[in-house]
Amino acid sequence: MDYTKELAGRLGEAAAFYPRILYRETVDSTNEWIKRMAAEGALRGTTACADCQTAGKGRSGRVWVSPAGENIYFSILLRPSFPAEKAPGLTLVMGLSVTEALRRMGLDVGIKWPNDAVYGGKKLCGILTELMITPGSGYYVVVGTGINVNQTAFAGEISRTATSVRLAFMEDPSSGNGNEPVARDRLLAEVLKSFFKNYAEYEKTGDLTGLLPAYNSLLMNRGRQVRIEDPKGPYLAVSRGIDAKGALLVEKEDGGIVAVDSGEVSVRGIYGYV
Ligand code: BTN
Repeated sequence: MDYTKELAGRLGEAAAFYPRILYRETVDSTNEWIKRMAAEGALRGTTACADCQTAGKGRSGRVWVSPAGENIYFSILLRPSFPAEKAPGLTLVMGLSVTEALRRMGLDVGIKWPNDAVYGGKKLCGILTELMITPGSGYYVVVGTGINVNQTAFAGEISRTATSVRLAFMEDPSSGNGNEPVARDRLLAEVLKSFFKNYAEYEKTGDLTGLLPAYNSLLMNRGRQVRIEDPKGPYLAVSRGIDAKGALLVEKEDGGIVAVDSGEVSVRGIYGYV
């Protein structure tokens, strides 16, 4: 079912940033679809959505299982004006945008650093940002996002760490959605509105400076002890929020502040996944 038909009408001023919002029932991967369009000169902001992916890609070469009729899978093409080394921060920009959108819909969602929107200790979305160098030293970026919306069962190991927006609403009756399926077009419109604003802010400086207050206010475990899974050896420290590059600032037992890079280490709360 094409849940994107009403999208442009719901976007308001953000619509100008998304020159084409395209939908297909089935694609291999919306990231791959965007890359094919980018090679043919597609404009920045072009957004590819699908009901189902046959070769959905996760991080580190993993598969992103993408069943039909339930979730949101979309990718946005960006042609940033800032240098390519600043592009990885866009994953955090999207994580923030998904979290803000879900909160506006009434769910008490937070961010697990660096970019997971989390409810009740489980993650609601995944983001795969790909940077593509083009001939002549230019580059473009594809930010691909999968949001678990109406899926109510997760197979095997994933069920420990993943949930969906619908399951979260069912757990929280005060949110007012009851057991009804969640409208994918409404949620996607809210995400795109937030992303449009947050990306404009990011482009001003090429980093997260303007987004720090919003991001850090939604960061889970801030001010609490976390376990840093450093390849040189794990250690405990207190999370103090992120810096403008998206590194997590943690305070060690000796009072020293260390900037932890998401490419090198993962961070967990001391009681499980979050
Ligand atoms: C992760 O491993 O957490 C990242 C998952 C990213 C999945 C999304 S779904 C839309 C886009 N197309 C893909 O093939 N992957 C991303």
